[in-house]
Amino acid sequence: MRHKITFLPMNIVVEVDDDAYPYGDHGKPGSLLDIALENGITLEHNCGGNCACTTCHVIIRQGEENLSEMEEDEEDKLDQAPGLTPYSRLGCQCVVRGDVTVEIPEF
Ligand code: FES
Repeated sequence: MRHKITFLPMNIVVEVDDDAYPYGDHGKPGSLLDIALENGITLEHNCGGNCACTTCHVIIRQGEENLSEMEEDEEDKLDQAPGLTPYSRLGCQCVVRGDVTVEIPEF
């Protein structure tokens, strides 16, 4: 199935086909990090997509329900993210299963 992801604030829209996951080898297959890197979008990933930092922090503006559920290790790590919001996720851990709009915060 095809999904549309909008990255803010740059407002870049990319389309993905979940049959084509994974694109690279960073983060969970089909995660926002995987998709961002494939499309030349800068999303920091100091730990290489292993849920061991918070640099891939993103804020979900739309379509939260179209991402894989948060697991405990993501929740624990996310607690340490600067500027945490109720809509925060780690880009390397949430897998895209529908249309989403995400903001890459600047800190
Ligand atoms: S890249 Fe380090 S937690 Fe996502």
